[in-house]
Amino acid sequence: MTAPPPQHAAEEGPSAAASITERDARVIAGVQKLRYFPLEVAAGRGAILIEPGGRELIDLSASWTASGLGHGHPAVTEAIVTAAQAPPGASVLSAVHEEAVAFAEELLALTPGPAGRRVYLGHAGSDANDAVLRACRARSGLRRIVAFEKGYHGGTGVAMGVSGVQINGGAVPDPHVTLVPYPTPFHAADGDAAADLVRSLSAVEQELSKGDVACLIVEPLLADGGLVVPPDGFLTGVGDLCRLYNTPLVCDEVKVGLGRTGMLHAFEHDGATPDIITFGKSLGAGLPLSAAVGPSDYLDEPVGSSLLTTAGNPICAAVGRTVLRILVEERLPERAAVAGARFLSGLREQLVGYATFQGGHIGDLRGRGLAIGVEITNPGTQKPDPSMAAAIARRAWELGVVVYVVGGNVLEITPPLVIDDAQIDRAVDVLAQAVSDVTGGT
Ligand SMILES: Cc1ncc(COP(=O)(O)O)c(C=O)c1O
Repeated sequence: MTAPPPQHAAEEGPSAAASITERDARVIAGVQKLRYFPLEVAAGRGAILIEPGGRELIDLSASWTASGLGHGHPAVTEAIVTAAQAPPGASVLSAVHEEAVAFAEELLALTPGPAGRRVYLGHAGSDANDAVLRACRARSGLRRIVAFEKGYHGGTGVAMGVSGVQINGGAVPDPHVTLVPYPTPFHAADGDAAADLVRSLSAVEQELSKGDVACLIVEPLLADGGLVVPPDGFLTGVGDLCRLYNTPLVCDEVKVGLGRTGMLHAFEHDGATPDIITFGKSLGAGLPLSAAVGPSDYLDEPVGSSLLTTAGNPICAAVGRTVLRILVEERLPERAAVAGARFLSGLREQLVGYATFQGGHIGDLRGRGLAIGVEITNPGTQKPDPSMAAAIARRAWELGVVVYVVGGNVLEITPPLVIDDAQIDRAVDVLAQAVSDVTGGT
């Protein structure tokens, strides 16, 4: 007699009656959930997400910018299929293959910097930042890293340790990390943005001048910390100080790089020249792919010190090559600049009546290209209003727009770069409706 098949706990099996949300609650680990409303998705197309019942939503998150090229771009599909049909293995650890090498060459060609740089290939922004930060420590023999309050650089290892927006969950704080303030014009004391910038740069200088810093890591635009666009001169100011004190500048382009801000690289707005640049999210068009570009004396040694078995695998590398090609061919950075301006001016027009100075709930509207933040504040106190922001995001979803909240109270608008004008106009209308519905028209 054959043994009966093993019985698993009843809660692990699918049930015909259960919704996908109920099944998710039973099997997917909560540690990886950041849910704002019960969004179920069956498919996607460009800037549209489609629910199982067929309802179409305009996606203003692009899966936290990972789908920068839009959902289901045909060139990406083709790259995946072609690369999967006869893959030269699944790793670059102990063998070389064309896709990984060509991808690195093409990324270098698109990233300004001196000759002789190397490319690290990874799976996520987190491991790219982690590898780079460890490389800076290894090369200099110094342990201290300077980063920014409310910055986010990843959910693992050293990258998590340098993140001001921390998801602790058992991680031990890194005692060698110093966080300094990021300039936040809207929240500047006495509304003095210039003084706020000086304060931030002075804090950077105070730390770098101690001479024990392995590197400084910065976001060109504070994303998860509240979609904060820094004032002009911030990044160049930081870069000048890094040069003065001989400290490598690491620019984390993972979230808003690759065209989103209206230029291929977000750091280019300020004319800054980082020593090391990290990429992720949209680089893989939804597949796990990240990269870091930096000098060979940082990224070559110690050999074999940042190993992930399938990093640089041919499928992800082929997708990365396609993403870079499409960004250039379809002129997506230029499109992001134009689309972002349309979005921001649409919001300004429709939301002006809700501005705090008119007794409403919109404290600030800001953006660079298709990275836009809507700051929700209490009209009386002008303080952040996280519960109102969450309610507006939920109402927007009910009305057909997906938008998430960062920094506690800021609606983050980062749609796929291929969003069209009609979708932008519709999204603006829906957001205005959501604000009106939730705030009762004030
Ligand atoms: C600026 C920045 N860097 C790094 C990361 C980490 O990327 P990932 O979640 O893909 O590891 C994020 C994620 O939100 C990010 O916003």
